[in-house]
Amino acid sequence: MSSALSTADGKTVRVALLGCGTVGSEVARLLTEQADELAARAGAPVELAGIAVRRPDKHPELPQHLLTNDAAGLVESDVDVIVELIGGIEPVRGWLLTALRKGKSVVTANKALLSEHTAELSEAADSAGADLYFEAAVAGAIPLLRPLRESLAGDRITKVMGIVNGTTNFILSAMDSTGAGYAETLDEASRLGYAEADPTADVDGYDAASKAAILASLAFHSRVTALDVHREGISGVTAPDIAAAKALGRTVKLLAICERVTADDGTESVSARVHPVMIPRGHPLAGVGGAFNAVFVEADAAGELMFYGQGAGGAPTASAVLGDLVAVARNRVLGGRGPRESAHAALPVRPMGQTPTRYHVSLDVADKPGVLAQVAQVFADHGVSIAAVRQRDRLATASLVIVTHLAPDAALEATVAAIGKMDVVREVVSVMRVEGEDG
Ligand code: NDP
Ligand code: HSE
Repeated sequence: MSSALSTADGKTVRVALLGCGTVGSEVARLLTEQADELAARAGAPVELAGIAVRRPDKHPELPQHLLTNDAAGLVESDVDVIVELIGGIEPVRGWLLTALRKGKSVVTANKALLSEHTAELSEAADSAGADLYFEAAVAGAIPLLRPLRESLAGDRITKVMGIVNGTTNFILSAMDSTGAGYAETLDEASRLGYAEADPTADVDGYDAASKAAILASLAFHSRVTALDVHREGISGVTAPDIAAAKALGRTVKLLAICERVTADDGTESVSARVHPVMIPRGHPLAGVGGAFNAVFVEADAAGELMFYGQGAGGAPTASAVLGDLVAVARNRVLGGRGPRESAHAALPVRPMGQTPTRYHVSLDVADKPGVLAQVAQVFADHGVSIAAVRQRDRLATASLVIVTHLAPDAALEATVAAIGKMDVVREVVSVMRVEGEDG
C-alpha cells in the first residue's frame, strides 16, 4: 500500500472535486478504484477529500460524508488541489482565483472559462506558485495541450487545424453519408443523444471557438480569447453544399483553424477562426467520422502531426483530468510546479477580413455566350484569382463551380455579394471556404 508516500511537506495530496456530473462522476470513480496506482504514479496518496455538487440529495451513489453543496467552503478547506468540473464562468471563476491565490493547484476542463480568463487565472497561479492544468478542456481524451505546451516548446508551430466539436462532426458526417438536410440530421442527433437539449453552443460554433482560443494561445505563445475567434456554425450548411463538395471529391467539416500569418513586411499575427470548410476526401481530417475529434498540427521542424481520439464523454474526459491530477500531485511531491503560461510572443490577432482564405462558389447561371467571362471579371475586379472552373450544362441554365486561390476573406465575401446581384446569375447555390489544398 502506498500510504508511506508523502508530498514534500509530508502530506497526502488532498483533492476537492467541484462538480460530479458526466465527467466528475468518472473522475471520482477512477480516483477511488485506482487509488493505489495513482499514489504510486504521483509519489503520494491522492485522497478525494470532498465533492461539491448543486444537489447533494440527488447523489445517493457518492460517499455521503464527502458531499457538500458549499463549493466555496470546500475550496477554502484544507485541500491541496481543486478539480473543477462544474463548467461555466461564474461563480467558478471566483472560486478558482481564490484557490490559486492561496497556492492550491487547479485542474479544470472548463473551456468556456479558460477561453476568456486564462490571463487572470495564470497570473493568480504565478503569484502563488500554483499549477493550472487544463488538458481536458480541448478534445477530451486526446493528449493535445501538453504536446503543444511541452513537447513542441522547442519548435515553431505554424498551424493548428482540427475537428474539436464532436456534436457537429456527428451531424456533418451523417449529412454526408445520408444526403439529408441539417434540421433533419440535428433532430436525429438529438434523438440518439449526441446533441444536447440546447445544442446552441455546439452547432453555432461557440464550443469550438473557445477551444480554438485555447489552442491558438498555446501554439503561438500569445493571448487569444474566444472573442478574438471568428465564428460561424453549421446551421447554414445545406444538402446542396454537401452534394457540391461530394461532386468535387471533398467533404464538409467544421474546423477550428489557428494560423501564424506572416505579412509581406514580415510582421506576424495570429488568425483564429471556426467555420465550415470543404476539405479533400483524402485529407487526414476528412476520414474522421461520428463524434470523434482530430487535430492536425504543422510545425517548422516536426512537420505535420495528427492527434485523434474521443473528444468528449465521461470516462475519456476523466482520463485527461486524471493525467493532469497526477502531474500536479507529482509537482507538489517534488516541491516544484509545471510550465507557466507562455504569452511572450504577444502576437496580435488578425481580423477575419484580412485573413487569407480560399472559396468554393457554386452558381446556377444563364447558359449563353459571355457569362463565364462576366463572372470571371467580377472576381478579377475584387483582386481574386481563380484556381479552377467547372461548368455543367442544364436546360436553360448552366452550373458553374469556381474555386479561388488564396485572397483576403473580405475580398472573397465582397466578390460573392457582387456575383449574387448579377442578372446572369440565377442562384448562388453554395459558398464555402476550402482548406487542405495548396492555395
Ligand atoms: P454536468 O452538467 O454533467 O455536471 C456538472 C456538475 O456540476 C453537476 O454535478 C452539478 O451538480 C455541479 N454543479 C453545478 N452547479 C454547481 C454549483 N453551483 N455548486 C456545486 N456544484 C455545481 O457537466 P459535465 O460533467 O458534462 O462537464 C463538466 C465540465 O467539463 C464543463 O466545463 C464541460 O465543458 C467540461 N467538459 C465536458 C465534457 C463532456 O463530455 N461532458 C468534455 C470535455 C469537457 P448536480 O449533479 O447536483 O446537478
Ligand atoms: N459538446 C462538446 C462536443 C463536448 O460535442 O464536442 C466536448 O467538449
